[in-house]
Amino acid sequence: MNTFLGFSFRDVLTITEPTSKKLWAKQGFHGGCGINQYIKVVPTSYSLLEEIEFRAKGRKDLRMLDLCCNIGRHSQYLFDKGFSNLYGVDVNTDCGKYQDKYFPQLAKKGTYFWLPVEEYLPTVKDNFFDIVFTHGLSISHITSRYNLPRDLARITRKYVIMANVKLTDGPHSRFWLTEFQRYGLVPIKLLQPEKEWCPKSAFNRAHALLVLKKIPKA
Ligand SMILES: C[S@@+](CC[C@H](N)C(=O)[O-])C[C@H]1O[C@@H](n2cnc3c(N)ncnc32)[C@H](O)[C@@H]1O
Repeated sequence: MNTFLGFSFRDVLTITEPTSKKLWAKQGFHGGCGINQYIKVVPTSYSLLEEIEFRAKGRKDLRMLDLCCNIGRHSQYLFDKGFSNLYGVDVNTDCGKYQDKYFPQLAKKGTYFWLPVEEYLPTVKDNFFDIVFTHGLSISHITSRYNLPRDLARITRKYVIMANVKLTDGPHSRFWLTEFQRYGLVPIKLLQPEKEWCPKSAFNRAHALLVLKKIPKA
């Protein structure tokens, strides 16, 4: 069968609308977006991590979900700071193996699911997580056929915090802020830098920091 970068043409077509799940699930360690790129925290990580600590107000037992966590570099940082109730989900099943290698304590003490978000979130109880966070274009990869804002609002008790996210474009056309608000996730902070982070790349404006607060329905 004809292939392109190791994917069949059917895979490549599938990436464009239904989901990019297949592409991510196959990245391995050295792929174009391989696990080796997600081991160390990067400058945009700190806006996320400082915001999480600020919102947690010293409560280290808050239950938190690292959405599209890869091997969990941000969870590992929080673990080192004493946060003890950490969960994560990522579609790339290789992440489990590399998490064991790079972050063995986190792998042992945390709860990780190597599944697509679209399969995991519907199984989570209402208000299960105090904080859900994500970093790095991750929500842009979720298919628009899955109602991510609705499930995020359902499973979150306090805050959804996102850094390095694209809010206006991506493989799937979305109106994220409108969609989140429809389900009771109200933006209370949105920071977008004046200067582009990578002026020549597709990741322009990709590093917004967004904090959504859950306003329970009356
Ligand atoms: C840009 S990486 C960011 C990883 C991580 N948030 C970080 O900053 O270290 C995007 C991640 O989203 C994951 N991903 C993509 N689509 C997914 C899906 N449908 N369900 C779960 N994870 C997904 C990929 O496997 C990848 O680890």
